Amino acid sequence: MASATILQAVTLLVLAVACHASPYYPLQLGYYHDKCPQAESIVKAVMEKAIGQNPGNGAAVIRMLFHDCFVEGCDASVLLDPTPFSPTPEKLSAPNNPSLRGFELIDAIKDALEAACPGVVSCADIIAFAARDASYFLSCGKVYFDMPSGRLDGTFSNESEPLKFLVPPTSNLSTLIDSFDVKGLSVEDLVILSGAHTVGRSHCSSFVPDRLAVPSDIDGGFAWFLRSQCPANPTDSDDSTVMQDVVTPKDLDNQYYKNVMSHKVLFTSDAALLTSPETAKMVVDNANIPGWWEDRFKTAMVKLASIEVKTGYQGQVRRNCRAINY
Ligand code: HEM
Ligand SMILES: *[C@@H]1O[C@H](CO)[C@@H](O)[C@H](O)[C@H]1NC(C)=O
Ligand SMILES: *[C@@H]1O[C@H](CO)[C@@H](O)[C@H](O)[C@H]1NC(C)=O
Repeated sequence: MASATILQAVTLLVLAVACHASPYYPLQLGYYHDKCPQAESIVKAVMEKAIGQNPGNGAAVIRMLFHDCFVEGCDASVLLDPTPFSPTPEKLSAPNNPSLRGFELIDAIKDALEAACPGVVSCADIIAFAARDASYFLSCGKVYFDMPSGRLDGTFSNESEPLKFLVPPTSNLSTLIDSFDVKGLSVEDLVILSGAHTVGRSHCSSFVPDRLAVPSDIDGGFAWFLRSQCPANPTDSDDSTVMQDVVTPKDLDNQYYKNVMSHKVLFTSDAALLTSPETAKMVVDNANIPGWWEDRFKTAMVKLASIEVKTGYQGQVRRNCRAINY
């Protein structure tokens, strides 16, 4: 009898340890399975509709995941609006303002989730699920992966933080590598995640000064096209947008790497991937080997979405993604 009890206790202990040994710890697959079974399908349905209306909605949330996770971890701090107590949150910072978009889409997803399961699904998990679903729909199902969840929402957001961690598109390779290394991401993660520039858009101000206004390695014909689309001196009031990938602008595919090789990319940070033999080889492999990039992008997105996540007393589940709970 006593030994049976001890055996049970040991079994429980082993189980507890095994559960903590989730490969995604402290996140886990299906975190909402019992708490809100419809959570992931609700996010997916809203994303499918939004991307059907405008593929830019997909690009928006993929970029949002990056800008959330590199600043205070994946905690939805990028979503917080200004308040009298916090007048200058991350979303007002130069890397986010005015170019980051998709805030209303996250609100719409949150509204649907609050109607189904009030106070259960964090805004940080919404961004991660939405980015996963955007990858799926924009790739016509080729980039299909599970996204672990269980992130909590943060309560701190300040415009000074994005400037520390989101390096500008004028960056050289060593600056890019360092900025990823600080977040535990490798050189390969940098090359793979940069492939997200196969969808979405850019404002002219993000590349004209260092790519068109001065000599650069950009393809002559592509530069001519961009000059026809952009003001010579973009300003806040005169700043149009162009597609990141002119060849297949709406598809999440490996075309980005072909564009890097043919010097038809917008940013110095994109072109920089050719400036070391190691990263140049990765660019060529991603461009040439079918399915290579897609497989690696799935893993890299989960890694990105796992940076410095908050659990327990470190966070909360916001009721409104734009404001902390009081
Ligand atoms: C490696 C460093 C990176 C730099 C310097 C960089 C820079 C930029 C810039 C300047 C824009 C254009 C913003 C605008 O003017 O509208 C942009 C757009 C975008 N970036 Fe990046 N990015 C980087 C990495 C990433 C990563 C890791 C992802 C996601 C995995 C990503 C996803 C996107 C997407 C999807 C867009 C288009 C957004 C839209 O259409 O609204 N970027 N990026
Ligand atoms: C927020 O950032 C500003 C600079 O943009 C700085 O002056 C201020 O001290 C920061 N606030 C906190 C609480 O870190
Ligand atoms: C890269 O840029 C940084 C910051 O501008 C600079 O300090 C560094 O010298 C540059 N590195 C190379 C290899 O050009």
